[in-house]
Amino acid sequence: MKPLTFDVVIIGAGAAGLMSAQLAGALGHKVLIIDHSLRLAEKIRISGGGRCNFTNINAAPECYLSQNPHFVKSALSRYTPYHFIELLDKFNITYHEKTLGQLFCDGKSQTIIDLLDFLCTQNGVTRKMGVTVKNITQSPLGFTIDSSIGTINSGQLIVATGGLAIPQIGATGFGYNLARQFNLDIVPISPALVPLTLDPKDLITFANLSGISFNSEVTTGNTSFVENTLFTHRGLSGPAILQASSYWSAGETISINMLPSQNIADIIKENKSSNKKLSTLLGQFFSSRLANTITDTLGQDHSISQLSNDDTLRLTQLIHNFTLIPSGTSGYKKAEVTKGGVSTKDLNSKTMMSKVNGLYFIGEVVDVTGWLGGYNFQWAWASASAAAT
Ligand code: FDA
Repeated sequence: MKPLTFDVVIIGAGAAGLMSAQLAGALGHKVLIIDHSLRLAEKIRISGGGRCNFTNINAAPECYLSQNPHFVKSALSRYTPYHFIELLDKFNITYHEKTLGQLFCDGKSQTIIDLLDFLCTQNGVTRKMGVTVKNITQSPLGFTIDSSIGTINSGQLIVATGGLAIPQIGATGFGYNLARQFNLDIVPISPALVPLTLDPKDLITFANLSGISFNSEVTTGNTSFVENTLFTHRGLSGPAILQASSYWSAGETISINMLPSQNIADIIKENKSSNKKLSTLLGQFFSSRLANTITDTLGQDHSISQLSNDDTLRLTQLIHNFTLIPSGTSGYKKAEVTKGGVSTKDLNSKTMMSKVNGLYFIGEVVDVTGWLGGYNFQWAWASASAAAT
């Protein structure tokens, strides 16, 4: 079979791959995008509860974890959330802000996939799904890719194969292995934006709280997030925990403030003459199951007037600084992203080209991990744009 020849080959038809393919195509390059999966951009499809939280209007370098926190600056400043919004506006795709700058489609996530796919077609990109890449070698004119559709020659090679989160829909370590083959460094990887698990002895304490969520400030190390925490049958989840998980390392303590905007000692003081039961007072701030569980730690449901100073101190500690050491995370099967990846010290922050001429890495495969809430797609769009243009 005669080898296929392209200016640019992109491996991985997910968020970053499709974006870079359509942009490179628009610039007149002969582009091929391939993916081992039969379905296009599965992660876009399942993202944001099916409505794709496609960007965050507050996306800024501080919202990303990387060994080099400055690395994202160039790409993010050249392709901002407003560039993506402009693209959606042009195609009359409507959206709304849910909370904290998070923009979601009004319709289904599929709308975003269809748009990127349409732009690829419009810009002359060749797309092939269900393709297995067997081997890649460097050649005098670029790269030779040995694949299930034959030999492909390409001047430039863009790797957009993402991370390991949700292997059930096609995530693989392909990008990391290829980087190693070309002697690029990998920052150790781990699941991030992931629920935290608890030891069986801790789970017994929270057994009847599964499904309950509450507003909280979760702190790990020097980093805190104020959002909801959710008790699950395996441990803790909810946005505040997912955010904290990206900063948490095994063995570290996390602290939960269950009433971040109020002070329980002041509330008790204001109600000191009241005959109201403690569980009733706590029920004003928490679900009854959580209020009862907190009350149970004092051994008895006293009226507020009967609470001792020691009781108030114990409640303050429990409510404002509840600490525990998670046993681990729920792993890649439940993670939204992979932390770590191809080291930014081996990549050019303006072009995403690695120290290997013509070899680029974009999106989640790179050691850049965004917060929860549209930041990871914004990185996919911005890094894709940097590589393509
Ligand atoms: P992505 O994973 O999108 O694409 C990689 C592509 O490479 C896939 O098509 C895959 O099949 C292909 N591939 C992998 N191995 C290959 C191989 N060996 N050969 C060929 N192809 C291969 N982010 C956000 O900002 N807002 C949100 O709402 C959400 N929601 C969300 C929900 C869930 C459940 C998950 C798991 C993740 C999110 N995310 C998110 C994160 C977001 O989906 C993620 O960061 C981006 O999709 C990353 O884009 P990439 O293009 O880098 O990888």
